[in-house]
Amino acid sequence: MKKIAPSILSADFTRLKDDIESVNLADYIHYDVMDGVFVPNISVGIPVLQSIRKTFPETVLDAHLMITEPIRYAERFCDAGADIVTVHLEADTEDKIMEAMKLTRAKCKKAGISIKPKTPASALAPYLPLADLILIMTVEPGFGGQGFMYDQVDKIREVRRMIDESGFDIELEVDGGVNDETAVICSEAGAEVLVSGSYLFKKPDRGAEIKRLKEML
Ligand code: DX5
Ligand code: ZN
Repeated sequence: MKKIAPSILSADFTRLKDDIESVNLADYIHYDVMDGVFVPNISVGIPVLQSIRKTFPETVLDAHLMITEPIRYAERFCDAGADIVTVHLEADTEDKIMEAMKLTRAKCKKAGISIKPKTPASALAPYLPLADLILIMTVEPGFGGQGFMYDQVDKIREVRRMIDESGFDIELEVDGGVNDETAVICSEAGAEVLVSGSYLFKKPDRGAEIKRLKEML
């Protein structure tokens, strides 16, 4: 069964509790952290994550750190209640990104590694032994509501092959422009977790849409 991860970047932050409840039958809640440096936008950080964790103790919180030098914050996001902490390969040197992933695992949390559209799949190879999740961006990170980049589908297939050949237990997640058409394309290419923000949050009955998507995939 494929997993759906609603991105609360598209939620109404004045009614975040209600909005999370409206999608809480999903598998993960995707939490986008932006620092205005790694991406040209600023979103939410540690205090909001702590509040969500307190209010939703059972929910799997999937933190996507679009920040430079994530080694500075990986442990703090673990402590704040994230279950998965995903850092960007492009956000620091290879050594420091690996160290951030090791620190995450040392906190008994899952470590993710993400790549932007221009980064080739092959760049992921050194990180496979440290990764519990790989996140492929199908838009340039920074904003919700962008169009899906169809030229990334071959990369999803390639990373699927890399994971299968490696023998490691790594989930493959896709983020950006996911709707009922592109979710099927990503799933067929080998993605297991589909992040969806603007598409899902525009639906009047988000729970029904999550169920529908999961039945389709
Ligand atoms: C973009 C974020 C995404 C975003 C997806 O940088 O990482 O998680 O919320 O939004 P949609 O589904 O609207 O493309
Ligand atoms: Zn994201």
